[in-house]
Amino acid sequence: MTTDTTGTVARDGESRPGGPADSPFIRACRRRPVPHTPVWFMRQAGRSLPEYREIRASVPMLESCRRPELVTEITLQPVRRHGVDAAILFSDIVVPVAAAGIDLDIVPGTGPVVAEPIRTAADVERIRPITRDDVSYVDEAVRQLVVELGDTPLIGFAGAPFTLASYLVEGGPSRTHAKTKALMYGDPELWHALCGRLAEVTLAFLRVQIEAGVSAVQLFDSWAGALSEADYRRFVLPHSTAVLSGLVGAGVPRIHFGVGTGELLGAMGEAGADVVGVDWRTPLDVATGRIGADKAVQGNLDPCVLLAPWPVVEAEVRRILEQGRAAPGHVFNLGHGVLPETDPEVLTRVVALVHELSSRRADQG
Ligand code: CP3
Repeated sequence: MTTDTTGTVARDGESRPGGPADSPFIRACRRRPVPHTPVWFMRQAGRSLPEYREIRASVPMLESCRRPELVTEITLQPVRRHGVDAAILFSDIVVPVAAAGIDLDIVPGTGPVVAEPIRTAADVERIRPITRDDVSYVDEAVRQLVVELGDTPLIGFAGAPFTLASYLVEGGPSRTHAKTKALMYGDPELWHALCGRLAEVTLAFLRVQIEAGVSAVQLFDSWAGALSEADYRRFVLPHSTAVLSGLVGAGVPRIHFGVGTGELLGAMGEAGADVVGVDWRTPLDVATGRIGADKAVQGNLDPCVLLAPWPVVEAEVRRILEQGRAAPGHVFNLGHGVLPETDPEVLTRVVALVHELSSRRADQG
């Protein structure tokens, strides 16, 4: 272990100049000066890439997440193609929940579907704690990837307790999260028991990834925007805080992201994030005012803009880079995941444009 001048502990091998810890992405997460604004895309692995569709043609989603050689190849595809500043591990938020003993599948075109939804205290008991051995394929894939990626940082991730609870209680994707909220309001004790259990699984899953060598982690609370700030603070914040505060001292930046969270940005930062992900609804300068100057921001191009003609894309990229200057650190990203119908060449052009515009600005001082 080594300690840099700001007192941040870096793992061996990552402290060398030019290693992942010194990459533009990690520097921006830590609010340090960058040679250019780093960029990656949520859901960059899969979705729009033909080479991904080919590899996945005959392998079901969960099985592909459990085969380290496939995980490695799919994770590397967008890095090779687009030149993004970070890779994100190919997996899914329900992978650790399945490893914890819950019978579920990822159904093409639908998403996660749970065989027996969680509704009672006895159901919560079915969620077992996980160890590294339960997700050894993730450990193996991360170790392979760290070698393959060299100086490019790898982002590990997990689903946050609220978003995972929604899939488990509903039994599948939901627009209203009605059953989840009914349980939350109707039986707070059971709700907190469920989220407490999920926080343990999530924390253990992120620790496995960090031990195996990821350079940053992102906690996806994709559906937290369904809640008011008061309910978020009461029902969700303690559990997301348990996850993120459990990683203090792990030596990697923590990104906390959700969709429709304009009203929750301050609270999501308080949960213990170094970087707060912002969707397209809140301009980054406004978001920074809500989050505070002690955290970086990540975002926030509307994924639908990528379907518009290039001059529209270019104008939006310029606007976001400009508004991102208000933040003490900016990681360029979309406001949510890449849509499957996105032309991959547009993604490649966005990466080049972000790099060009932001490094030109650096030249000008
Ligand atoms: O970012 C990446 O490219 C890495 C891979 C990744 C997947 N899922 C692969 C996947 C990541 C980071 C996720 C996270 C995830 N999964 C989230 C949080 C991010 C977000 O989008 O808000 C959520 C909510 C899920 C749950 C989930 N998994 C849904 C709703 C779906 C169906 C929609 C979809 O994307 O097709 C999935 C399935 C899924 N996860 C696929 C992939 C490549 C598609 C699998 C298939 O249908 O064959």
